[in-house]
Amino acid sequence: MKKVIPATIIFIIASAFAMQQPAGLKAAIARGKTVYEATCLACHQPDGSGVPNMNPPLVKTKWVLGDKKALTKIILKGLQGGEIEIDGDKFHNPMPPMESTLTDQEIADVLTYVRNSFGNKASMVTVAEVKALRAKLK
Ligand code: HEC
Repeated sequence: MKKVIPATIIFIIASAFAMQQPAGLKAAIARGKTVYEATCLACHQPDGSGVPNMNPPLVKTKWVLGDKKALTKIILKGLQGGEIEIDGDKFHNPMPPMESTLTDQEIADVLTYVRNSFGNKASMVTVAEVKALRAKLK
């Protein structure tokens, strides 16, 4: 009995740590990195710093860290016309829509990667969330 209690306590503490990272976060980030490198890196740069006046940074912006639906919509539908303003800068490249080139899984993964890279820390975007928004925006 004496040995069982410490083992139980260790198990509870270990589970609490494991729960801070939702299941699959690490794997989603790893898959998302591959999507980022193939699809976003050319414009937003390897470190997410963007290109002044052309492509905005992805470092702690309100779109990256904020409402997941608004963020996912940017990937599905793209943006143009300098709608984004960050620290007084506007960006004059168009952001291409990717609803026909990326799957729900790829969008969920790449957004989970971006929300957990470049100094960002935010919750995962799930496949179900992307799927629901894609259906709604049709
Ligand atoms: C052809 C260049 C290009 C590519 C490729 C591209 N973007 Fe963008 N992105 C832009 C531009 C330009 C804007 C701002 C558009 C505007 O202001 O109208 C933007 C805006 C954004 C924003 C909102 C503003 C911000 O910086 O927080 C996010 C988030 C974003 N892009 C993420 C991505 C992700 C993720 C990918 C890959 C799946 C990607 N982009 C691919 C050029 C690009």
